[in-house]
Amino acid sequence: MRFVTTAPDLRSGITELRQRGHRIAFVPTMGNLHEGHLQLIRVARQQADGVVVSIFVNPLQFGPDEDFDSYPRTLDEDKRKLALSDVDLLFAPDEADFYPRKKEELTFVEVPGISDVLCGEKRPGHFRGVATVVNRLFNLVQPDVAVFGKKDYQQLTIIRLMTHDLGLPVEIVGVDTVREEDGLALSSRNRYLDNTEREIAPVMYQVLRTMADEIRQAGKIRDDVINNAKSKLEQAGFDVDYISIRRPSDFAEARADDRELVILIAARLGGTGTRLIDNIELSF
Ligand code: PAF
Repeated sequence: MRFVTTAPDLRSGITELRQRGHRIAFVPTMGNLHEGHLQLIRVARQQADGVVVSIFVNPLQFGPDEDFDSYPRTLDEDKRKLALSDVDLLFAPDEADFYPRKKEELTFVEVPGISDVLCGEKRPGHFRGVATVVNRLFNLVQPDVAVFGKKDYQQLTIIRLMTHDLGLPVEIVGVDTVREEDGLALSSRNRYLDNTEREIAPVMYQVLRTMADEIRQAGKIRDDVINNAKSKLEQAGFDVDYISIRRPSDFAEARADDRELVILIAARLGGTGTRLIDNIELSF
Protein backbone atom coordinates (compact mmCIF):
# COMPACT_ATOMS: atom_id res chain seq x y z
CA MET A 1 0.00 0.00 0.00
CA ARG A 2 1.33 3.42 -0.96
CA PHE A 3 0.80 6.18 1.62
CA VAL A 4 0.53 9.81 0.43
CA THR A 5 -0.35 13.06 2.17
CA THR A 6 -0.31 15.67 -0.62
CA ALA A 7 -2.44 16.20 -3.72
CA PRO A 8 0.54 15.91 -6.17
CA ASP A 9 1.60 12.58 -4.62
CA LEU A 10 -1.99 11.38 -4.72
CA ARG A 11 -2.18 12.33 -8.40
CA SER A 12 0.98 10.41 -9.23
CA GLY A 13 -0.34 7.36 -7.33
CA ILE A 14 -3.63 7.56 -9.24
CA THR A 15 -1.80 7.98 -12.58
CA GLU A 16 0.20 4.84 -11.81
CA LEU A 17 -2.98 2.86 -11.09
CA ARG A 18 -4.58 4.18 -14.28
CA GLN A 19 -1.49 3.27 -16.31
CA ARG A 20 -1.94 -0.28 -15.13
CA GLY A 21 -5.45 0.03 -16.61
CA HIS A 22 -7.11 0.01 -13.23
CA ARG A 23 -10.72 0.95 -12.62
CA ILE A 24 -10.58 2.87 -9.35
CA ALA A 25 -12.87 2.50 -6.33
CA PHE A 26 -12.68 5.09 -3.58
CA VAL A 27 -13.60 4.84 0.12
CA PRO A 28 -13.54 8.21 1.93
CA THR A 29 -13.28 7.95 5.73
CA MET A 30 -12.41 9.99 8.80
CA GLY A 31 -10.22 7.16 10.11
CA ASN A 32 -10.48 5.27 13.40
CA LEU A 33 -11.30 2.36 11.15
CA HIS A 34 -13.56 -0.46 12.32
CA GLU A 35 -15.15 -3.51 10.70
CA GLY A 36 -17.76 -1.25 9.03
CA HIS A 37 -15.01 0.57 7.11
CA LEU A 38 -13.27 -2.70 6.26
CA GLN A 39 -16.55 -3.94 4.77
CA LEU A 40 -16.68 -0.80 2.56
CA ILE A 41 -13.15 -1.65 1.40
CA ARG A 42 -14.15 -5.25 0.60
CA VAL A 43 -17.06 -3.97 -1.50
CA ALA A 44 -14.73 -1.46 -3.19
CA ARG A 45 -12.37 -4.31 -4.08
CA GLN A 46 -15.27 -6.20 -5.72
CA GLN A 47 -16.11 -3.10 -7.77
CA ALA A 48 -12.66 -2.26 -9.15
CA ASP A 49 -9.02 -3.32 -9.37
CA GLY A 50 -7.52 -0.24 -7.71
CA VAL A 51 -8.73 0.74 -4.22
CA VAL A 52 -8.03 4.21 -2.80
CA VAL A 53 -8.91 5.12 0.81
CA SER A 54 -8.77 8.60 2.34
CA ILE A 55 -8.50 9.47 6.02
CA PHE A 56 -9.33 13.08 6.83
CA VAL A 57 -11.17 14.44 9.86
CA ASN A 58 -13.01 17.17 8.00
CA PRO A 59 -13.36 20.34 10.12
CA LEU A 60 -16.08 21.73 7.80
CA GLN A 61 -18.61 19.12 8.93
CA PHE A 62 -18.29 19.72 12.69
CA GLY A 63 -20.29 22.39 14.51
CA PRO A 64 -18.58 24.68 17.07
CA ASP A 65 -19.82 22.56 20.03
CA GLU A 66 -19.11 19.20 18.42
CA ASP A 67 -16.30 16.69 18.87
CA PHE A 68 -13.80 17.82 16.19
CA ASP A 69 -10.93 18.18 18.69
CA SER A 70 -11.64 14.92 20.52
CA TYR A 71 -12.56 12.87 17.42
CA PRO A 72 -10.39 9.71 17.61
CA ARG A 73 -7.30 10.04 15.39
CA THR A 74 -5.56 6.66 15.11
CA LEU A 75 -3.53 6.91 11.89
CA ASP A 76 -0.82 4.34 12.76
CA GLU A 77 -3.35 1.71 13.76
CA ASP A 78 -5.48 2.56 10.69
CA LYS A 79 -2.46 2.13 8.41
CA ARG A 80 -1.80 -1.32 9.88
CA LYS A 81 -5.41 -2.37 9.25
CA LEU A 82 -5.35 -1.02 5.70
CA ALA A 83 -2.04 -2.73 4.89
CA LEU A 84 -3.82 -6.04 5.63
CA SER A 85 -6.90 -5.05 3.62
CA ASP A 86 -5.67 -5.05 0.04
CA VAL A 87 -5.71 -1.26 -0.36
CA ASP A 88 -3.51 0.27 -3.11
CA LEU A 89 -3.33 3.87 -2.02
CA LEU A 90 -4.01 5.72 1.25
CA PHE A 91 -4.43 9.49 1.14
CA ALA A 92 -4.25 11.21 4.56
CA PRO A 93 -3.76 14.93 3.96
CA ASP A 94 -2.95 17.64 6.49
CA GLU A 95 -5.70 20.18 6.99
CA ALA A 96 -3.52 23.08 5.76
CA ASP A 97 -2.69 21.24 2.51
CA PHE A 98 -6.20 20.05 1.94
CA TYR A 99 -7.94 23.39 2.47
CA PRO A 100 -5.43 25.93 1.15
CA ARG A 101 -7.60 28.95 2.00
CA LYS A 102 -9.46 30.12 5.11
CA LYS A 103 -12.40 27.83 5.81
CA GLU A 104 -14.85 30.75 5.92
CA GLU A 105 -13.83 31.86 2.40
CA LEU A 106 -13.76 28.47 0.69
CA THR A 107 -16.05 27.59 -2.21
CA PHE A 108 -18.62 25.14 -0.94
CA VAL A 109 -21.15 22.65 -2.25
CA GLU A 110 -24.64 22.48 -0.82
CA VAL A 111 -27.59 20.23 -1.62
CA PRO A 112 -30.50 22.35 -0.38
CA GLY A 113 -33.67 21.01 1.23
CA ILE A 114 -32.54 17.56 2.24
CA SER A 115 -29.48 19.05 4.00
CA ASP A 116 -31.74 21.06 6.33
CA VAL A 117 -33.90 18.27 7.77
CA LEU A 118 -33.29 15.52 10.38
CA CYS A 119 -29.53 15.44 11.09
CA GLY A 120 -29.17 18.64 9.04
CA GLU A 121 -31.64 20.48 11.26
CA LYS A 122 -29.85 19.31 14.42
CA ARG A 123 -26.37 19.94 12.96
CA PRO A 124 -26.55 23.16 10.86
CA GLY A 125 -23.84 23.26 8.16
CA HIS A 126 -22.92 19.59 8.66
CA PHE A 127 -24.05 18.35 5.25
CA ARG A 128 -22.60 21.37 3.49
CA GLY A 129 -19.26 20.33 5.03
CA VAL A 130 -19.76 16.73 3.93
CA ALA A 131 -20.80 17.62 0.36
CA THR A 132 -17.87 20.05 0.05
CA VAL A 133 -15.22 17.60 1.24
CA VAL A 134 -16.60 14.68 -0.77
CA ASN A 135 -16.73 16.81 -3.91
CA ARG A 136 -13.14 17.95 -3.37
CA LEU A 137 -12.00 14.36 -2.72
CA PHE A 138 -13.81 13.17 -5.86
CA ASN A 139 -12.00 15.87 -7.89
CA LEU A 140 -8.62 14.81 -6.49
CA VAL A 141 -9.09 11.04 -6.73
CA GLN A 142 -11.34 10.96 -9.84
CA PRO A 143 -12.68 7.52 -8.98
CA ASP A 144 -14.98 5.42 -11.15
CA VAL A 145 -16.94 4.30 -8.12
CA ALA A 146 -17.17 5.49 -4.51
CA VAL A 147 -18.44 3.42 -1.59
CA PHE A 148 -20.36 4.73 1.45
CA GLY A 149 -22.12 3.08 4.40
CA LYS A 150 -25.91 3.07 4.65
CA LYS A 151 -25.65 3.80 8.38
CA ASP A 152 -25.31 7.46 7.36
CA TYR A 153 -28.36 7.15 5.14
CA GLN A 154 -29.06 10.86 4.80
CA GLN A 155 -25.40 11.50 3.95
CA LEU A 156 -25.50 8.75 1.31
CA THR A 157 -28.65 10.24 -0.24
CA ILE A 158 -27.11 13.74 -0.27
CA ILE A 159 -23.93 12.42 -1.94
CA ARG A 160 -26.02 10.62 -4.58
CA LEU A 161 -27.94 13.85 -5.29
CA MET A 162 -24.77 15.98 -5.39
CA THR A 163 -23.11 13.55 -7.79
CA HIS A 164 -26.19 13.56 -10.01
CA ASP A 165 -26.72 17.34 -9.90
CA LEU A 166 -23.07 18.15 -10.69
CA GLY A 167 -22.81 15.48 -13.38
CA LEU A 168 -19.85 13.82 -11.66
CA PRO A 169 -18.85 10.61 -13.46
CA VAL A 170 -18.76 8.58 -10.23
CA GLU A 171 -20.99 5.63 -9.43
CA ILE A 172 -22.13 5.72 -5.80
CA VAL A 173 -22.49 2.39 -4.01
CA GLY A 174 -24.25 2.07 -0.62
CA VAL A 175 -23.23 -0.76 1.71
CA ASP A 176 -25.39 -2.34 4.44
CA THR A 177 -24.60 -1.38 8.02
CA VAL A 178 -22.29 -3.70 9.93
CA ARG A 179 -23.54 -4.45 13.46
CA GLU A 180 -22.31 -5.83 16.73
CA GLU A 181 -23.86 -9.18 17.71
CA ASP A 182 -26.47 -7.36 19.80
CA GLY A 183 -27.49 -5.19 16.83
CA LEU A 184 -25.69 -1.94 17.65
CA ALA A 185 -24.50 -0.31 14.41
CA LEU A 186 -20.70 0.05 14.32
CA SER A 187 -19.57 3.65 14.68
CA SER A 188 -16.38 5.39 15.75
CA ARG A 189 -18.49 7.28 18.28
CA ASN A 190 -19.54 4.08 20.11
CA ARG A 191 -16.28 4.39 22.04
CA TYR A 192 -17.76 7.42 23.84
CA LEU A 193 -20.42 5.20 25.50
CA ASP A 194 -19.88 4.17 29.12
CA ASN A 195 -20.73 0.58 30.16
CA THR A 196 -24.36 1.31 31.11
CA GLU A 197 -24.98 3.26 27.90
CA ARG A 198 -23.36 0.50 25.84
CA GLU A 199 -25.92 -1.94 27.29
CA ILE A 200 -28.82 0.37 26.40
CA ALA A 201 -27.57 1.33 22.92
CA PRO A 202 -28.84 -1.79 21.02
CA VAL A 203 -32.42 -0.82 21.95
CA MET A 204 -32.31 1.64 19.04
CA TYR A 205 -32.04 -1.14 16.47
CA GLN A 206 -34.64 -3.26 18.33
CA VAL A 207 -37.06 -0.31 18.11
CA LEU A 208 -36.35 0.09 14.38
CA ARG A 209 -37.07 -3.59 13.78
CA THR A 210 -40.29 -3.43 15.80
CA MET A 211 -41.42 -0.39 13.80
CA ALA A 212 -40.68 -2.23 10.55
CA ASP A 213 -42.63 -5.30 11.76
CA GLU A 214 -45.61 -3.17 12.85
CA ILE A 215 -45.74 -1.43 9.46
CA ARG A 216 -45.41 -4.70 7.56
CA GLN A 217 -48.16 -6.34 9.65
CA ALA A 218 -50.56 -3.40 9.30
CA GLY A 219 -49.71 -3.03 5.59
CA LYS A 220 -49.39 0.73 6.19
CA ILE A 221 -47.88 3.30 8.56
CA ARG A 222 -50.29 3.41 11.50
CA ASP A 223 -50.58 6.74 13.34
CA ASP A 224 -49.15 5.38 16.60
CA VAL A 225 -45.97 3.79 15.18
CA ILE A 226 -43.71 6.77 15.81
CA ASN A 227 -45.17 7.62 19.24
CA ASN A 228 -44.80 4.01 20.44
CA ALA A 229 -41.18 3.97 19.29
CA LYS A 230 -40.46 7.28 21.00
CA SER A 231 -41.89 5.99 24.30
CA LYS A 232 -39.76 2.82 24.12
CA LEU A 233 -36.60 4.80 23.44
CA GLU A 234 -37.33 7.26 26.26
CA GLN A 235 -38.09 4.45 28.70
CA ALA A 236 -34.71 2.90 27.84
CA GLY A 237 -32.96 6.22 28.62
CA PHE A 238 -32.62 7.88 25.19
CA ASP A 239 -33.24 11.54 24.55
CA VAL A 240 -34.77 11.42 21.05
CA ASP A 241 -33.66 13.92 18.37
CA TYR A 242 -35.95 12.52 15.69
CA ILE A 243 -37.78 9.45 14.45
CA SER A 244 -38.76 9.77 10.82
CA ILE A 245 -40.21 7.54 8.11
CA ARG A 246 -39.15 8.61 4.61
CA ARG A 247 -39.23 7.45 1.01
CA PRO A 248 -35.73 6.26 -0.01
CA SER A 249 -36.23 7.53 -3.59
CA ASP A 250 -36.54 11.26 -2.79
CA PHE A 251 -36.30 11.37 1.03
CA ALA A 252 -39.77 12.94 1.24
CA GLU A 253 -41.83 12.12 4.35
CA ALA A 254 -43.62 8.86 3.68
CA ARG A 255 -47.38 8.72 3.11
CA ALA A 256 -49.37 6.09 5.05
CA ASP A 257 -49.66 3.83 1.99
CA ASP A 258 -46.03 4.04 0.73
CA ARG A 259 -44.48 0.58 0.49
CA GLU A 260 -40.78 1.44 0.02
CA LEU A 261 -39.56 3.04 3.22
CA VAL A 262 -36.58 3.96 5.32
CA ILE A 263 -37.06 4.57 9.04
CA LEU A 264 -34.43 6.81 10.62
CA ILE A 265 -33.68 7.51 14.28
CA ALA A 266 -31.22 9.84 16.03
CA ALA A 267 -31.06 9.99 19.82
CA ARG A 268 -28.67 10.85 22.62
CA LEU A 269 -27.71 8.64 25.50
CA GLY A 270 -27.30 9.54 29.14
CA GLY A 271 -24.44 11.28 30.88
CA THR A 272 -22.02 11.31 27.94
CA GLY A 273 -24.77 12.69 25.65
CA THR A 274 -23.41 10.49 22.85
CA ARG A 275 -25.53 10.89 19.76
CA LEU A 276 -26.36 7.65 17.94
CA ILE A 277 -28.05 7.32 14.55
CA ASP A 278 -29.42 4.25 12.82
CA ASN A 279 -31.97 3.29 10.19
CA ILE A 280 -33.74 0.37 8.57
CA GLU A 281 -35.04 -0.03 5.02
CA LEU A 282 -38.23 -1.92 4.33
CA SER A 283 -40.33 -2.75 1.32
CA PHE A 284 -43.52 -4.79 1.40
O1 PAF B 1 -18.90 9.30 6.74
C1 PAF B 1 -17.79 9.84 6.96
O2 PAF B 1 -16.89 9.25 7.53
C2 PAF B 1 -17.57 11.28 6.52
O3 PAF B 1 -18.73 12.03 6.62
C3 PAF B 1 -16.99 11.39 5.08
C4 PAF B 1 -17.93 10.83 4.04
C5 PAF B 1 -15.66 10.64 5.02
C6 PAF B 1 -16.74 12.86 4.75
O4 PAF B 1 -15.85 13.46 5.63
